[in-house]
Amino acid sequence: MKKKLNIAMIGYQFMGRAHSNAWRQVSKIFDCPFEPVMKVICGRDEAAVKQAAERYGWEEHATNWQDVVRRKDIDVVDICTTGDAHMPIAVAAAEAKKVVFCEKPLANTLEEAQQMLAAVKSNACIHMLCHNYRRAPAVLIAKRLIDEGQIGEIYHYRGSYLQDWIVDPDFPRVWRLEKARSGSGALGDLVSHTADLSRFLVGEISEVAGLLKTFIAERTLPNSTAKAPVDVDDAALSLIKFENGAIGTIEASRFALGHKNHLRFEINGSKGSVAFDLERLNELEHYLEEGPNSGFKTILATDSTHPYIDAWWPPGHIIGYEHTFIHTVLDLMRAIAEERIPTPNFEDGVRNQRVLDAIERASISGNWEPV
Ligand SMILES: NC(=O)c1ccc[n+]([C@@H]2O[C@H](COP(=O)([O-])OP(=O)(O)OC[C@H]3O[C@@H](n4cnc5c(N)ncnc54)[C@H](O)[C@@H]3O)[C@@H](O)[C@H]2O)c1
Repeated sequence: MKKKLNIAMIGYQFMGRAHSNAWRQVSKIFDCPFEPVMKVICGRDEAAVKQAAERYGWEEHATNWQDVVRRKDIDVVDICTTGDAHMPIAVAAAEAKKVVFCEKPLANTLEEAQQMLAAVKSNACIHMLCHNYRRAPAVLIAKRLIDEGQIGEIYHYRGSYLQDWIVDPDFPRVWRLEKARSGSGALGDLVSHTADLSRFLVGEISEVAGLLKTFIAERTLPNSTAKAPVDVDDAALSLIKFENGAIGTIEASRFALGHKNHLRFEINGSKGSVAFDLERLNELEHYLEEGPNSGFKTILATDSTHPYIDAWWPPGHIIGYEHTFIHTVLDLMRAIAEERIPTPNFEDGVRNQRVLDAIERASISGNWEPV
């Protein structure tokens, strides 16, 4: 019998569903060091959270996260709430000596992110940030090629994250368009992912230029006729300089018509290039200098030798978005078993937040800003 690991999850909508699926599946597919127990899911609307608990397979539901994070029988607090609630929940969970697992971006501000990091450190907690795209097998093959030197010295990182869900001016002013709840718009939501991938694959960012733009400055509140301002960016652009001399660009937008969840990066080095597109998650494009007729080739990242794939299906039987979350909770459990801090963690969250903060400052100043 494996030791049980009791999970409490706060938030039950999009990420609540994705994380519930991950906790539910992980031990059915992988040989896990623990048996995760979906103990309690927490939200503010009793009827809705009860329904979520039944549907996703949680033993209990609750409506007060302060009580939940202090429960003696809880080992891991998994934070799937809007950004404004990350810091208070994470700090309380750390003070209760729990393992703290938090959705990205770590917080709404750099200051909050630093408070969260200080709390997990001073309470000696294990902590992890959910930048799940790091755990797509194709991204890890790119990482291996880079680390082995097969791409050579890196010159360029070109990242974009494009969506189109708020182009319609009648789309309501939901929480993601309200700074007090989300911290920022495309910047925190989308740039945070592509900045994380750039740090993971290329290295630390030292300086940025930035441009944030809000195209529609007022929208109707949900289920209302009242208007409210949009005080976050609809699109965020940045030029970046890495400490190692590489340079890059990041573009994120929720106004890129036709693009639904188009996260793409391309990395060019002295010996080759790699490129990844989330909408073709099983594939890694790569170019390795091989002579005059060589061009980009595609690796189908579904061989048993590829990261995580051995536990899944035979070669060519593709995996999807939800698997990146399953891989993430697997690695969190492995880290807990080995009593180490996994990556990305709250330290990465603070570094990521420094990048977001610098892009915001650069957009205001019009200058290059240090990270
Ligand atoms: N890793 C990814 O790919 C990814 C994708 C989408 C969202 N996210 C992140 O996940 C987080 C949640 O986003 P979402 O899309 O699931 O949002 P959502 O609107 O679908 O769900 C937010 C949840 O937070 C809950 N919540 C908010 N304040 C709360 C409080 N004080 N107490 C208890 N519950 C509270 C809401 O009830 C809801 O269940 C955000 O930080 C977001 O940036 C990550």
